[in-house]
Amino acid sequence: MHLFCCTNALVVLEILHTISAVRSALKPLKATHKTIGLVPTMGALHEGHLELVKKSKLYSEFTVVTIFVNPIQFNNSEDLEKYPRQLEKDLEKLRAISVDFVFIPEISEIYPHPVGLTFQFGDLENLLEGSFRPGHFNGVAIIVSKLFHIIQPDSAFFGQKDLQQVAVIKRLVRDLSFDLEIKVVPTMREPDGLALSSRNLRLSSEGRKNAKVLFEVITECRDELLKGENWFQIREKAKLKLDATPSVKLEYLEMVLTDEFKPVDVLVPGESHSICIAAFVENIRLIDNINFSPENNIN
Ligand code: PAF
Repeated sequence: MHLFCCTNALVVLEILHTISAVRSALKPLKATHKTIGLVPTMGALHEGHLELVKKSKLYSEFTVVTIFVNPIQFNNSEDLEKYPRQLEKDLEKLRAISVDFVFIPEISEIYPHPVGLTFQFGDLENLLEGSFRPGHFNGVAIIVSKLFHIIQPDSAFFGQKDLQQVAVIKRLVRDLSFDLEIKVVPTMREPDGLALSSRNLRLSSEGRKNAKVLFEVITECRDELLKGENWFQIREKAKLKLDATPSVKLEYLEMVLTDEFKPVDVLVPGESHSICIAAFVENIRLIDNINFSPENNIN
């Protein structure tokens, strides 16, 4: 794998709003076999997104970031309405790390007609995020497929924080034979362990302090599992700690095999495991996960 290095101070961020503008801008690059990395986002960019961009710049000659708050992946209208939007700040951050292109379409550009497509991912969408957010992964699969078709990148970069989304997108790439590589980038965290998320911006300072309990709980669960304790007892103890934390309401706390995203309640030798959590903190839904393998803790 060829690695590309270092930001080029002379890069001018090209802002594109239409599909045809994206295709025209990328055509000469494709004609000369330049590699293109895609970083799909919904904006409100934080260090986690910028880490995806840095990885893309390392593996690709050109990077396209997309900023689009995809309405069809929200199953809660309040969540969609309150999703943070801060385009000018986002553009400043992208310029500072010398991104080549940003695609910022209007909703009507992406969805000129009502969307009739439906993807079925079987068990993957009936578990955890899928069961609590019906239709969410269908919406993600539609927008991600559209972006793959429009941009035709060589690689696309996603964060490990959205672990189930990664599993869905890998399935999408496999089943629809998209000719690209999915690269997963480890979760970036605040010093107290809270996973970076655009939603953290909506927490009060009190909520922000309480939110660190999510990472505390999943690391404690991992440590106790590695000591050989029973998953059900570990989970009950974790629930008590979450219940005792003000403004925190647990939605799920589960252990899965990372690659298949299959729930398990005992450790399986030789496999990577993930403990996944979703909880509301002050009515703001946050998710996190931690990966480890029994033989060799990799997180
Ligand atoms: O992870 C996200 O921010 C979104 O689900 C994505 C991949 C940009 C699709 O809208």
